[in-house]
Formats: sequence, structure tokens, C-alpha cells
Amino acid sequence: MRKKIVAGNWKMNNDQRETAELIAALKSIRFSTKTRVMIAPAFTQLQQAVALTEGTRLEVLAQNMNAATNGAFTGEISAPMLNSIGIQNVILGHSERRAYYNETDDSLKSKVDTALLHDMEVVFCFGEELNERKSAIHFDVVKRQLEKALFHLDSGQWSNIILAYEPVWAIGTGETATPDQAQEIHAYVRDLIASKYESSLANSISILYGGSVKPANAAAIFSQNDVDGGLIGGAALQAEDFKAIIQSA
Ligand code: 13P
Repeated sequence: MRKKIVAGNWKMNNDQRETAELIAALKSIRFSTKTRVMIAPAFTQLQQAVALTEGTRLEVLAQNMNAATNGAFTGEISAPMLNSIGIQNVILGHSERRAYYNETDDSLKSKVDTALLHDMEVVFCFGEELNERKSAIHFDVVKRQLEKALFHLDSGQWSNIILAYEPVWAIGTGETATPDQAQEIHAYVRDLIASKYESSLANSISILYGGSVKPANAAAIFSQNDVDGGLIGGAALQAEDFKAIIQSA
């Protein structure tokens, strides 16, 4: 059975004091053993978050990493560096990184390979932009993003892949995909994986939805058959909102 996953992507928010306060509030949240809860602070707060969540069921993941394991890449962070502070999960392919930092299907493929080589679990983000949905090519876009970055993997490697469908037009806009729109893409993606691999593999993959998930809409989205939880931005910065979303999973 797939576990529900609720992951908070803090983006470039929360300094040391704010991280301590938010984690202190999150630690009191009770959630089902069928649910995994993750938080993704900025690089500078990862070590602090690992220490503060020790002994709890809160998991800490990174928001990004470099495809190389070391070398002359000023300002970058590698998988071994993350591993060395106890980080075993990383978000890759977020649309903000694709849009502002030129991440491409090809560069993401390399990052995925490096992460898996270092036994990291990857939360891989994909999703179409507004103009792509308006021109009704959203299925093609999603297919291309997944095929190019992930479909070279062998079946065994997929046990470390979590998918996150994040339609770009729904991120930070307050405009959420409807539960039906989310379900439609999630089911399409699961079919795509089943046709490339096997249905048992497709059924084992958690596919999260991200884009303006709030306490008021989380339950309706999470109740869809192929939606296995959410990747949460703004609402993950408020303990009460994140708690309500976790408890909707
Ligand atoms: P919002 O929940 O703020 O729309 O952000 C979603 C997101 O980008 C999570 O990665």
C-alpha cells in the first residue's frame, strides 16, 4: 500500500530562529503511521533541522543539489555533503529551478542519477505552464518531463522516486487544480509508468500534488484515487495550516 506523504517546501524562507520555532510547533502534531511528513528547509538550516527533528517522525529533505559529487562549482552543494549531515532525500526539478536557474530535462536526469547513486530518495517535480494547459499540450509536456529525466531508470531504482505533479499555474497563485484535474494527470502518469514498466511498479509510486494546497482544499484533492499527498509551499510555513493539511492526508 502506498503511504500518504505531506512534504513542506519552505523555499527561501525561515532563518535559524524561525526554523527553530516552526519545528517546535510541528513536533506536537500527531499523524497516522500511514503518513510520512517531510520538511525542506534551505541549505543553511538543514543541519539544524536534522538535529531538532531527531527522534521524531519528521523527515528533512533538501530543496536541490548539484549533479557533480565535488569540484569547482562555486556556490553549489553535493549529494555527499548532504549525506554527511544526515540528509537522504532531495527535491529535484521544482518549476522555480527550471524557470529561474535553467534546469532542463537533461540536467535533471544527471541530478537524479547522482542522487540515486548516493542512495537518496528523490521527490521529482514536474508540471505544465499555463500556456501549455491552455493549448491543451499538458499531457505531452508531463510525458516529456518524465520520459527524459526518469524513464532510463531500471525498475529497482524507482523505489527511491516520489513524484510531485505541480502545475506551474497553480504554484503560489491561490489557483488550485481541481481534484478532477489533479486526478486526471496523476492517473495518466501512473498509466505511463505502467506501460513503460509494469502496473505493480506504477501502483507502488507515490504521486503528490502541489500548487496552492491549503487546509480548505487539501482533503478533496488528497481523496482522489491517484493522489498520494501533497507538496506544500506557502501553507507549510504556518504550523496550524500545515497541521490541518497533514491531518487531511
Ligand atoms: P504553494 O503551495 O505556495 O502554491 O507552492 C507549491 C510548491 O511550489 C511546493 O513545491
